Amino acid sequence: MPELPPQIDRYGDLVDDRDAFLEALRRPLPTDLRWNPFKVTRERFEERLTADGAQWSRLEGSPDLYRVEGLPGPGLTWAYHLGWYHPQGYTSTLPPVILDPAAGSDVLDLCASPGGKTSQLAAQMMGHGVLVANDINHSRISILAANLERLGVPNALISQYRGENFPERFRFDHVLADVPCSGEGTFRIDGGRYNPDRSGRARTLPRIQLALLLKALKITRPGGTVLYSTCTWAPEEDEAVVAAALSRMEIEILPLPGNLPGQPGITSWEGTDWPDDLTRTMRFWPHHTDSWGFYCAHLRKSG
Ligand SMILES: C[S@@+](CC[C@H](N)C(=O)[O-])C[C@H]1O[C@@H](n2cnc3c(N)ncnc32)[C@H](O)[C@@H]1O
Repeated sequence: MPELPPQIDRYGDLVDDRDAFLEALRRPLPTDLRWNPFKVTRERFEERLTADGAQWSRLEGSPDLYRVEGLPGPGLTWAYHLGWYHPQGYTSTLPPVILDPAAGSDVLDLCASPGGKTSQLAAQMMGHGVLVANDINHSRISILAANLERLGVPNALISQYRGENFPERFRFDHVLADVPCSGEGTFRIDGGRYNPDRSGRARTLPRIQLALLLKALKITRPGGTVLYSTCTWAPEEDEAVVAAALSRMEIEILPLPGNLPGQPGITSWEGTDWPDDLTRTMRFWPHHTDSWGFYCAHLRKSG
């Protein structure tokens, strides 16, 4: 494992147990697989895992997820190639679980590639309703398309817009804004996409993230919901972005399910204060979930 970058220390006061946090970052990530109901029954999937020599357990808060040990590699089984499951970290499954779209609803995944959450949303919708999977990046869209095909998703269509420019003639019941971020929470994956340089690209991200969140809210029907998520702990990309949206649009921050192993969002950071409602958002640390770092905010559009 790579050395922990000193910048991780900036979260020393934010995290509830600094030593446990650092220790968890040094451990390899467990393998989590999400059962895909479009291709196989749950019973047959569980039997296959066992036949392949895996020990598995279910995780609280994500009903279709299995934590698995003993497989040669999540992409090395025929069950993977048949689309019986999708490898997806526990915390990465939480945004769709929280958004919870009903069958028959209109849903947009604004930043969708490579499609883990899109295919999960489709499963929650039981393949009924319109699911638009959008991403800006052409090569990542190829992976998205391949994943949706392998998983047999029947109700998704793919678009390639810069999310900020997504056409406003469409309206959705739910929008997932799983935005590009500095990716600190992916540190345990081969050192992650983690870029500790907050003076570099990370500095421009909050502006893009806010533009994506405002667009998501704009094209959501009144009464509809938006799930804003990042895989970073940086408050600049998390609470600060949600607070900025709160000051511009008529929205309500919804409480998250009580059984989720997260820490409430914060209301001040480095001299900036935010409304108390931000404590309804949630930050996920690796020592609580043994998974990636994540942040989720569930928003309802009022007007
Ligand atoms: C965190 S990843 C999304 C992961 C995906 N939701 C999943 O679960 O598999 C962020 C995605 O946003 C895309 N992206 C970056 N900037 C964007 C923009 N301005 N508009 C739309 N998508 C963008 C990237 O190509 C990347 O695929």
